Amino acid sequence: MIKAQRDFLESHGVTFSARNDELHFGVGRNMRVEMECPCELRAGRYDVQRIGAFTYLGGGETILRRVGGIGRFTAIGPNLQTGAPEHRVGAISPHPIFEGTWSRRWPEVAAFYDQNPESVGRARAAYDREEGDQDKLITIGHSVWIGGRVTIRSGVTIGNGAVVAAGSVVTRDVPPYTVVGGVPAKVIRKIFPDELIEAFQRIAWWDYGLPALQGVELRKLDVNSAETLLRDIGHNIHEKELRPLDPKIVAVLEDNTCEELT
Ligand SMILES: CC(C)(COP(=O)(O)OP(=O)(O)OC[C@H]1O[C@@H](n2cnc3c(N)ncnc32)[C@H](O)[C@@H]1OP(=O)(O)O)[C@@H](O)C(=O)NCCC(=O)NCCS
Repeated sequence: MIKAQRDFLESHGVTFSARNDELHFGVGRNMRVEMECPCELRAGRYDVQRIGAFTYLGGGETILRRVGGIGRFTAIGPNLQTGAPEHRVGAISPHPIFEGTWSRRWPEVAAFYDQNPESVGRARAAYDREEGDQDKLITIGHSVWIGGRVTIRSGVTIGNGAVVAAGSVVTRDVPPYTVVGGVPAKVIRKIFPDELIEAFQRIAWWDYGLPALQGVELRKLDVNSAETLLRDIGHNIHEKELRPLDPKIVAVLEDNTCEELT
């Protein structure tokens, strides 16, 4: 991140807990990244299309690739790694030389490519087709908690209100309001009964932001208090005729400039 980006983003409500040289928009090349304000970014590399308001993420060796959206009020611990490139399992070797994607900078490889153009070409074509799957974006919902040292595979969707335990490797979608953990991550438990999960999804308090939670009891919920909480949030939204949150949105563009979108 360059100083001009930091100055612009901070002046619009993005906070940072990292030095400029610890934070990069993109992985290897610059990327367009949109942020709803406020949000907080810590050290890391961000190939993320959009970060929701009140979300914080980054720290340690965070490397986020291929992330489409991250919702609002989402808490992400350090060292998250997502969408890492994958090689072809079951080929003669998973090394990218045999996917036809390695550079020709090593003379031995350049000669091998020249001597085996058809086989290398077919491997490359197959790799490009399969790469389409890898390109599937990751989506992380609203009000999610991701513990430290988590890995998420390309294409995974993590539902609203879900919790991912520290050290997990998430290879499949995570349903809303569900705790998952382990390698590979498995369901540990649902946080609420199905009907309450549906009610939280329907009320979608994150669409309205903090005004929806004004005056409500914030302690840990059991089934009875969750019902009271939903009623109070519903009261805030409907009786006070709350309007959906309309946060300021800022973007870092591919050419390293920044702009305000709203
Ligand atoms: C998952 C977590 C939130 C605990 O959730 P919980 O619902 O209170 O879970 P419990 O402690 O009751 O444990 C439930 C089960 O999950 C298992 N579990 C807990 N943490 C786990 C982990 N990181 N990986 C795998 N399984 C885990 C427990 O062993 C237990 O299994 P069992 O029922 O077979 O005994 C917590 O363990 C965790 O990972 N916190 C993340 C901390 C962190 O990384 N913070 C960074 C700053 S954001």
